[in-house]
Amino acid sequence: MFKSKIAGIGKYLPGNVVTNEMLTQYMDTTDEWIQERTGIKERRYATKHEETTTTMAAEASKMAIESAGINKEDIDFIIFATLSPDYYFPGCGVLLQRELGITGTECAALDIRNQCSGFVYGLSVADQFIKTGMYKNILLVGAEMHSMGLDFSNNGRSVTVIFGDGAGAVILQPTEDQGQSILTTHIHSDGTYAEELALINPGTHGGHFAGMEQFGYPDSSIPGEIFVTQKMMDDGLLYPNMNGQLVFKTAVTKFPEVIKQALTKVGKTADQIDMFIPHQANLRISGFVQKMLGLPDEKVHNNIQKYGNTTSASIPIALCEAWEEGKIKKGDLVCHAAFGSGFTWGSVLFHWALD
Ligand code: ACO
Repeated sequence: MFKSKIAGIGKYLPGNVVTNEMLTQYMDTTDEWIQERTGIKERRYATKHEETTTTMAAEASKMAIESAGINKEDIDFIIFATLSPDYYFPGCGVLLQRELGITGTECAALDIRNQCSGFVYGLSVADQFIKTGMYKNILLVGAEMHSMGLDFSNNGRSVTVIFGDGAGAVILQPTEDQGQSILTTHIHSDGTYAEELALINPGTHGGHFAGMEQFGYPDSSIPGEIFVTQKMMDDGLLYPNMNGQLVFKTAVTKFPEVIKQALTKVGKTADQIDMFIPHQANLRISGFVQKMLGLPDEKVHNNIQKYGNTTSASIPIALCEAWEEGKIKKGDLVCHAAFGSGFTWGSVLFHWALD
């Protein structure tokens, strides 16, 4: 059976830098509050109506294709992870395929909806397809355009300050060299707290939950009732909501647990990790996990300070940046871990395969 390796990597960050100070024009917040609670100093926002999640993904993909030394026509499978797609449907996978000009080939496209864990889930899915010999050049992308769907009023401030836009991509190929391959992937989910970190509307539940008629919403039992109402907009129900403290508490439990699971599976210990790149949720969460693993600063790469939380894009962007900065070299043992909405979480251990 084949193993899979990361054979190419790319990233794209929009040019528009939005500092914490700039956010104070829209909401009651401060640079000090944001930095202290999240570590974020600035983030990037895509240019509305010019850039989309898919166009950013295409830029990251082109870089990944070039760094793998393949042609776009060689790609036989696209896996696209995002929670901020261009359209409700179809998914971004086919839009990226069109944007890259690889329609008319034997390339299939799959969309992944696992939010902050989307890239780790994507690595796990890609790994299975490579191992069975089904695909030879998988393009895996994580991309987000959060800025289009955030609440810039005071009501949304605890969520809005955290998120940024960007894209990261990798090419996965088969290898027989264990010293350059993915060693193990672990993915988990628990839907118990699905609504605690979520964008609930519009959805097939009818735009609101049963019993909300008492708050002035139309009767949800009427067929053809419209999906989005003015009242939903006025009440801010079209924006993401987050139970920040529950997310924090669960994340700091699940991150170490799933990393330990991966290490145990391959008979390694935390001190053998050369580079730990966690999902960039919040610098306090990353710091907590780093401490639990006993890793020194030089073995951890964080960039949430510059880009905010880019959800499914955060790991590939940070991995690409760590490689560009010479922080990882061929053969290094790299660990990714993620936790996010769903709740979903996961980990990956692999040897870096690029020069
Ligand atoms: N600026 C200023 N004040 C704010 C802001 C803001 N942007 N947002 C909230 N506040 C206020 C609140 O209104 C509240 O004020 P009050 O005490 O007068 O009521 C006060 O700050 C504290 O609010 P809390 O929500 O209790 O703040 P907390 O200390 O929990 O910090 C935070 C919020 C940063 C979200 C924290 O819960 C956290 O780090 N959670 C982890 C969640 C996370 O990282 N999510 C990332 C995305 S999900 C993922 O990637 C897994």
